[in-house]
Amino acid sequence: MELVARRIEGLFKKAVQKTESGFNEWDKLVIQPASSEEFGDYQTNFALTSARFFKKAPKVFAQELISSVPENKVIEKLEVAGPGFINIFLKNEFVSGVVAGSVSEKWGFSHKNLSGVVVIDYSSPNIAKPMHVGHLRTTIIGDSIKRIMRYVGYEVIADNHLGDWGTQFGKLIVGYRMWLDKDSYEKDPVRELERIYIKFQEESEKDNVLEELARGELKKVQSGDEENLKLWKEFVTVSVAGIKKIYSRMDVDFDTWYGESFYHSLMPEVVEELLKKEIVKEDEGALVAYFDEEENLHPCIIRKKDGAYLYATSDLATVKFKNDTYKMNKAVYVTDDRQQAHFRQVFSIAKKAGWDMEFAHVVFGIMSFKGVTISTRGGNTIHLSNLLDEAEKRAYDVVNEKNPELPEDEKRNIAKVVGIGAVKYADLSQNRTSNIEFSWEKALNFDGNTAPYLQYSYARVQSVLRRAKEAGFLPDITKEITFETGIEKQIAVAIVRFPEVVEKAADYYKPNLIAEHLFDLAQKFSTFYNSCPILKCEEDMVISRMNLAYITAETIKLGLSLLGIGTVERM
Ligand code: ARG
Repeated sequence: MELVARRIEGLFKKAVQKTESGFNEWDKLVIQPASSEEFGDYQTNFALTSARFFKKAPKVFAQELISSVPENKVIEKLEVAGPGFINIFLKNEFVSGVVAGSVSEKWGFSHKNLSGVVVIDYSSPNIAKPMHVGHLRTTIIGDSIKRIMRYVGYEVIADNHLGDWGTQFGKLIVGYRMWLDKDSYEKDPVRELERIYIKFQEESEKDNVLEELARGELKKVQSGDEENLKLWKEFVTVSVAGIKKIYSRMDVDFDTWYGESFYHSLMPEVVEELLKKEIVKEDEGALVAYFDEEENLHPCIIRKKDGAYLYATSDLATVKFKNDTYKMNKAVYVTDDRQQAHFRQVFSIAKKAGWDMEFAHVVFGIMSFKGVTISTRGGNTIHLSNLLDEAEKRAYDVVNEKNPELPEDEKRNIAKVVGIGAVKYADLSQNRTSNIEFSWEKALNFDGNTAPYLQYSYARVQSVLRRAKEAGFLPDITKEITFETGIEKQIAVAIVRFPEVVEKAADYYKPNLIAEHLFDLAQKFSTFYNSCPILKCEEDMVISRMNLAYITAETIKLGLSLLGIGTVERM
């Protein structure tokens, strides 16, 4: 089903072509949601931005345009406002038809360039250390962007670019040989590795020979020493098993796990190519890429004097690999904003090398935590598993208080869906580039802009539908939805706009736009629910209102699923 804004755009295009066939600056024709109800359902400032081309006063041009819009089933009324804005009012029957169609048909995004593959690199933790809250945002945001882009119709590959080749392995090998507690390792290898890692950090402060040893052991891993490679593999295996458990709790998964080690063997080839293309130069034994002045970037070392490769080299290898392996549409990287310079360097070098694709570095700010328990054993970090445990526990307490009579299994499931959802939403509902503060009070507030509030809105509709069913009614989307009150129409228009918001979220990598829209929809629904009886009104209105409630709930469910958040039938 075509997006409504696109349909309106089509009508205006026809109107413009009637007046002037030579016009082609179509990106100026933007149909936007009206900023307030009195200005209709949609608006456009096209007459203002393009009047010059037509050599007319904006107001005059706007007037001409609206009288040239062809006969159609979409628009009820057009009016010129202010200096030349056009307000667009939709026909009720049209809105109602689109709303009904939204649950039976898929929205169409074929006006976008969806060809090729989008690879999203997210989460990508440095492993052999437990996942901590520093890994939270990239995991949650990346997963949501993946879902959103898939929904729009891109072919998306989710890639976990594990940091599985770095200095931590040298340290662990040293520590393993010196301090391993075999029993603990057998029982809980991840935990024992963590203990060894922390011990290494403490001991090496007193004795810096240890660092030297660790570097040596890492080098042995990287040059293929059998014994060290065996240990490395073992650490990777147990560590990946540990993080997979966390991903599964968070309902996050990946298509490829091409960590840094995967690219190790490609590095010489990559460096060779960069040398041949004269993108890197030798400088005192090292290989360095320099940038044009206007790029405003520091030189980037590609290979050190001692032959060692760096973080940038490994990322260049990943770009080359993507370029060789997939027909790329976009390469998206989700990391915190401290890596901006790094990615600008990598993208610039890759473009010069001709590994060209659309690059996007999706950055986010820091998340700080208020009132979250810090585990003493993990040094000063909050383990992700502890945060998730606490989320579920707190959600359980709330559910248990609200609905003590529910079966235990169900309460546990609700606690999981609500607790994890609350954590995700607390992140995704914010502007991603802001620094944000997490607190349980905010995340789990059932009356605020939170996942529990949206999940509750969904569950409330399910309870209405259950009661309706008992009274012999079922939603029936073949029956027309009529708008008896203004709020019903407003809800319907919000549903109509939903896919447009999703498209924008995909274009700008901004899940928060979806969160905002869902919250607005849920608030409107709450107004409706409190002021319009659904089951105690005239019989044909019962079906209409039930349909509207049902489709609102489905939209909330779909929107939450794009944020990686689940719903429950009651809570
Ligand atoms: N492992 C890195 C870290 O923990 C993030 C990797 C991001 N992805 C990439 N291709 N560089 O900071």
